[in-house]
Amino acid sequence: MSKKKVAILISGRGSNMSALIEAAKAPDFPAEIVGVLSNKAAAPGLEIAASHGIATASLAQSKFPSREMFEDTMTLMLESWEVDIVCLAGFMRVLGEDFVNRWEGRMINIHPSLLPAYKGLDTHARVLAAGEKEHGCTVHFVTPGLDEGDAILQARVPVLPDDTEDTLAARVLVEEHRIYPEALKQLALGKM
Ligand code: GRF
Repeated sequence: MSKKKVAILISGRGSNMSALIEAAKAPDFPAEIVGVLSNKAAAPGLEIAASHGIATASLAQSKFPSREMFEDTMTLMLESWEVDIVCLAGFMRVLGEDFVNRWEGRMINIHPSLLPAYKGLDTHARVLAAGEKEHGCTVHFVTPGLDEGDAILQARVPVLPDDTEDTLAARVLVEEHRIYPEALKQLALGKM
């Protein structure tokens, strides 16, 4: 079996990244993590990735004259790793249309809501404020519209009466870590 080469784009702690790295250690997992790219040099996930022997790089958008040049440089980096699939895992930058189109059908994201509900930021707080009884997470294809691409997998969790943002986020995160590797597996196997 030839494994698909995967890069993970992060901005922070990288717990979803870690879940993907762990899953990809299984000999029969159809993808391997070849690189982790962050737009924040201080992202804790970079050290975690390096500790697993994975290539890492950080590129600050502010150091580039334009978003296009920043994203073109990311593309060069990804091409140097011969990447087949890009996984966004807490990457806190909206990507431009050229970059998104270049990876069409090959770039996925994990979002902490039951899309199409609650696109964008602060999903847990908004779900609590709205008095929802159910929440969850979605792995979806990345398209130019924010959080709008087709869903690959979703997981649901209950919202409990005494939930805070933190308790709800933690319950959702457990499911994120479960479905993200499964969605990557399906994509790498060409089941999507
Ligand atoms: C996760 O909640 C993910 O759904 C969202 O950003 C957060 C990233 O967390 N896109 P981590 O860096 O994977 O721990």
